[in-house]
Amino acid sequence: MWNYEKRLQYPVKITRTNPKMAQVIISQFGGPDGELAASMRYLSQRYTMPYKEVTGILTDIGTEELAHMEMICAIVYQLTKDLTPEEIEKYGFDKYYVDHTLALWPQAAAGTPWTATYFQSKGDPITDLSEDMAAEQKARTTYDNILRLIKDPEICDPIRFLREREIVHYQRFGESLRIVQDHLDSRNFYAINPEFDIK
Ligand SMILES: [Fe+2]
Repeated sequence: MWNYEKRLQYPVKITRTNPKMAQVIISQFGGPDGELAASMRYLSQRYTMPYKEVTGILTDIGTEELAHMEMICAIVYQLTKDLTPEEIEKYGFDKYYVDHTLALWPQAAAGTPWTATYFQSKGDPITDLSEDMAAEQKARTTYDNILRLIKDPEICDPIRFLREREIVHYQRFGESLRIVQDHLDSRNFYAINPEFDIK
């Protein structure tokens, strides 16, 4: 179970709306390398992870990704709050607006809806952790791309925090992969032989 703390993991205080940037940042809510996919990936994979230590890491990081999703939603919300119909049209927010008004809905920057096919839960510890490491790098790259497009320090500050967390997660999944590999048969040089086959 989870306990909810009524605060963000890192403060988001945006005073200037920017619907153009909101359309880019929403990708980290419902896009292919976004926070919703990240939390669902780790919170799904943890059940079949055979080592308690690594299951704990997946639970921790999956939980933190939910808090990141909350931050991204707060950013998008604050960037689009109280927009006038003129502003919505001027900044190209009309296509999103017509379907969702100013509500939060998980989609990629180009409008593609969120889908569970953005992640895998394969039941093979090496496979899952390799995906997790790649996912963290993809999320970090997306934040780098966002930071190149944004100049407003009020937006950059929480985005930089999120980017740094992806690097920490990448390192923790690297440690997790080493834990799993330490348990493998030492003759299994290619690390492609899950316990499943040797039972
Ligand atoms: Fe992450």
